Formats: sequence, C-alpha cells, structure tokens
Amino acid sequence: MRETFDRKIIYLDNAATSWPKPEAVYEAVDHAMRYSGNASRSGHRLALEADRLLYQTRKLLASFFNVQDPAQVVFTKNCTEALNVALKGLLKVGDHVITTSMEHNSVLRPLSRLQRSGVEVTVLQANKEGYVTPKQIAEAIRGNTKLIAVTHASNVVGTIMPVADIGKVAHDHGVLFLVDAAQTAGVLPIDMEQCFIDVLCVPGHKSLMGPSGTGALLVREGIVVEPLIEGGTGSLSESIEQPSFMPDRLESGTLNVVGIAGLKAGLEFIMGKGLSNIRQHEQKLTKMLLEGLSELDNVTVYGPKDVERMVGVVSAVVKGVDPARVSALLDQEYGIATRPGLHCAPLAHKSIGTFETGTVRFSVGFFNTLEDIEETIRAMKHIVKEYG
Ligand SMILES: Cc1ncc(COP(=O)(O)O)c(C=O)c1O
Repeated sequence: MRETFDRKIIYLDNAATSWPKPEAVYEAVDHAMRYSGNASRSGHRLALEADRLLYQTRKLLASFFNVQDPAQVVFTKNCTEALNVALKGLLKVGDHVITTSMEHNSVLRPLSRLQRSGVEVTVLQANKEGYVTPKQIAEAIRGNTKLIAVTHASNVVGTIMPVADIGKVAHDHGVLFLVDAAQTAGVLPIDMEQCFIDVLCVPGHKSLMGPSGTGALLVREGIVVEPLIEGGTGSLSESIEQPSFMPDRLESGTLNVVGIAGLKAGLEFIMGKGLSNIRQHEQKLTKMLLEGLSELDNVTVYGPKDVERMVGVVSAVVKGVDPARVSALLDQEYGIATRPGLHCAPLAHKSIGTFETGTVRFSVGFFNTLEDIEETIRAMKHIVKEYG
C-alpha cells in the first residue's frame, strides 16, 4: 500500500505498467535530465555522458537476455514499437507467419495490416487456459513459413507459453522465432540462445522497472530486420542512405536517454534483487489472490490457476456485475487499482470465454505486499455481498 495524491493506493495494474518504481529509477531519471545531451551527435561531455548511458544499458540488456553483441539491442519507445519494427521488418508479401489467439493487439494489429498486404497469417487457437502447444505450432508450419510470433505469457490470464519447446520447433524447421516478453521480462529468466529466440520484444516500463517511453528489440546476430523508420543516426552523415549496421539501422532520431537512464537503474535493481526472488515473491502473492478469489461465491477466476504455470496476472468476473463497475468500485471505495475489460487482447478473451463481458484483471508486482492482497480479497468479499 502506498500514499499517492491524497489517499492510499493498492496498485494491482502492474501488467499495464509497474508502479511504483525503485527509488534509484527516479534518481537516475532526474540525474540524466540534468547531466546528459544528445547521444551519438557531438563530442562534448554531456553528449558523451548520453553515449555512455546508452552503451551501458545496451550491454546490460544484452547480458540479461543473452545476446552476444550489445549492438544487437535496439531501443524503442515501448514493446509495441519493438513488435512493429520486428514484424514489419521481417515479413514480406508471400511469407507465412504463425501466431496464437493469446496475443496482444500489438501483435495482432500489425499482423492484420500485413495480411491485407499479402502476408499469410495463421492464428492458432489456445485452449480455455490460454495454452498453445508446440505440436500445434509444428503442424501449422508450411513451406513459406518465415516466422513464429508468440507471447511469452498472457496479459489476460498469465498463462506461460512453452517458449523453449516452441523455439526448438522453430529452429528444427528453419523458421524465425519472435517472442513478445511484455509480461515476463524482469520476472522470468529469458535466454535467447537457449530458447532459440531470434527476436525478443520487451517493454522497459513493466517488470524491468523503467519509466514510460522505454522498450527494446533484441535481434540475434545474422538476422536482418528492415527499418521501419529512417533518419538521423549521427553516423555516416555523408550518406542519404540508412546505415546498414546495428543498432543504427533500426534506431533513428533522438533517443529517450532520460528514460533509458531510468531503465538502466531498473535493470540494476532487478539484478540486485535476483529474478528468482522476484518470481518467488510474486508467486506467493498470486497464489494468495487465486485462493482468496476462488473461495468467494459468485466469483469466477479464469486461466491456469497454478502459479507454476503463470505469471502474476489474474482475471476474474463477479456474476451479474459488469467488470467495469467492479473495477470502479475497487478504485473509488477501496483505493485498489485494477483494469477491467478486454485488455487489448480480444482473441484471448474469446479463447477463455469472456469476450462478451471482459474481466477484472489483478496484476501483482514486486512492490505489492501480502497485506495488499488480504485487503483486496476483503474488498472483493464486500463487493460480492453488496452487488453480486
Ligand atoms: C502481451 C503484451 N504485448 C505487448 C504489449 C504492449 O506493450 P507496450 O505497452 O509497452 O507497448 C503489452 C502491454 O500490456 C502486453 O501485455
């Protein structure tokens, strides 16, 4: 529980963006605003400080996700931008891409646009718990399949996809593998080499603890992604052609150095705490949430309901009460922040059977406490009693 504005808040909307951030993140942002210039553009000390920040953050991200060369790390403004750059930069007319019904609109919408311009798209149906099996993926591969694009964990019900096994399928068939790690980067270990992930898309502002406006695209060496945006890079200025080397190939215009400074501090915080400790804490909270909500009459909880197979994202519905109403009551009466509706994942809601109503999503973060969850269960009990 935290004080904010003039009242306390229990923040359970970490799947949208993490809050609060570690103190070091606020400090790093403040420091970078005061003491950095524009990276790669000049040789004075403020510009060099920006260069240093960018390089160190690239290096941290590369080692965190196991990419050999930090130049293969491209900064983006969020996970959506990373996904767009990757999908539009890899797929061309006549290519086939396999994805799943659990994807966020940040995957489905770019693919829908690409489909209209001649890319073949297969959307594999997940089961009611949000799973798609490696076998389903293998069976969907065709001669022209270029890419498999899968979310690592659902932002609706938390279901963790078997990315290591899917990566093996992709590798064995010579197909590229893209992972949307929006809900797992900073919670689950991700080793791009081990899981045969060719392209990894991450937000900086969720479990990596960075500020809004940060994200990254990590590309395995040897894979060529066409740029979505061309422009100034500070390199090869004599040429009107976009540089072909990474990261400049995919990184044009002034970067969000201030945000990236915060992301670096977020990453250092996570590394200091240890991923397994973060995961354990979130699993404990998620288990409590699942058990507490499942015990309530007239409340249905969706998804795997097993903390070994999910991240800290829980979706529930109170029978007869619109999720928007439940979420508004939680906020207004109890100071508990959740997110109702379809969570930008309409096909995921169709898969789990909640497309008509949507759900109330409770998503835990590292800074939540057991008391936060106890209070949330108590609040839900009152709401069910009064309105259910
Ligand atoms: C699974 C998934 N993919 C992509 C995104 C988009 O992330 P961003 O908001 O950083 O663009 C989200 C955001 O919630 C998400 O949950």
